[in-house]
Amino acid sequence: NKLLAQEGYDTVVFDSLSRGSPSTVVKGLFVKGDLSNPNDLHALFNQHTFDAVMHFAAYIDVGESVSHPELYYQNNVSNTLNLLHIMVKKGVSNLIFSSSAAVYGIPNTIPIQEDHPFHPINPYGRTKLIVEQILGDYEKAYGLHSCSLRYFNAAGGDPEGLIKNYNLKENNLIPIILKNIKSSKPVTIFGTDYPTPDGTCVRDYIHVQDLAEAHILAMKHLMKNGGVKAYNLGNGKGFSVREVLKSAEKVTGLTVQIQEGQRRPGDPAILLADASKAAAELGWKPQYPQLDRMIADAWRAIDHL
Ligand code: UD1
Repeated sequence: NKLLAQEGYDTVVFDSLSRGSPSTVVKGLFVKGDLSNPNDLHALFNQHTFDAVMHFAAYIDVGESVSHPELYYQNNVSNTLNLLHIMVKKGVSNLIFSSSAAVYGIPNTIPIQEDHPFHPINPYGRTKLIVEQILGDYEKAYGLHSCSLRYFNAAGGDPEGLIKNYNLKENNLIPIILKNIKSSKPVTIFGTDYPTPDGTCVRDYIHVQDLAEAHILAMKHLMKNGGVKAYNLGNGKGFSVREVLKSAEKVTGLTVQIQEGQRRPGDPAILLADASKAAAELGWKPQYPQLDRMIADAWRAIDHL
């Protein structure tokens, strides 16, 4: 919402705050409400008129999606249906949806293009794929235009350092490393025997500011052209777990205690995006492809710990 405001848009953030933080809402209006409650949605859409909706309100913890799939099908799928219902009812016809590389599962080809087969390997990835499929059906039935943005490994923080302390419960690699550095706890590498240059998994980390830019470009494109679109968002450049650990030490000036552990079930060795479609059709070009910059911005965002 910060970037949208900078570009002159009026925004309303709607969030239950069950996992989010109001500290992220630095511009525009904030409405506390729950996608599971149709009354909250009716009140929101009765009070405001919207040109477009950006839907980020999903659970994203892959491990939790395996142990508690009902939470994921309820929040990520069923609650999305509530949102689509009110959008159709009120004639709001543009949706930008946060999808994920998890829709592809273990890749057959690297880098991954958008037409790669969909074989999600966990409930989280399945919920994202189901919503993408629902969006296709809603376009045919109701003319709802949508753009699904398939994030690879989102990383970083506000480059200006204004938005802080929102990702304290995240258990992705970079937040774990930074939290453990602060509290002098060891970081476990999940597998050191992968067929990669240093034996650890390679991922395509993409700065959240670049993701935010892509959302605005996607919204403009959708409002002009309509349709049902999907784009990969990544740099197409991979970093191994060991490279991420090295960069974290360089950026923080502190030493990470490292434990070499077993592979985590369901981890592909390498995930890399082919994001040339977003470049060609949206004019998207990531501005912060450097891993050190992503880690520095993430580090600044957890300064109070
Ligand atoms: C996963 C999803 C991705 C989703 C993201 C959000 C898949 C294939 N990918 O990414 O779509 O958007 O979660 O949560 O389902 N690692 C360690 N030690 C740790 C933590 C992680 O070695 O303590 C390694 C992992 O094995 C992995 C890499 O670091 O190789 C990145 O892990 P993580 O940050 O959890 O993201 P993904 O699993 O890649």
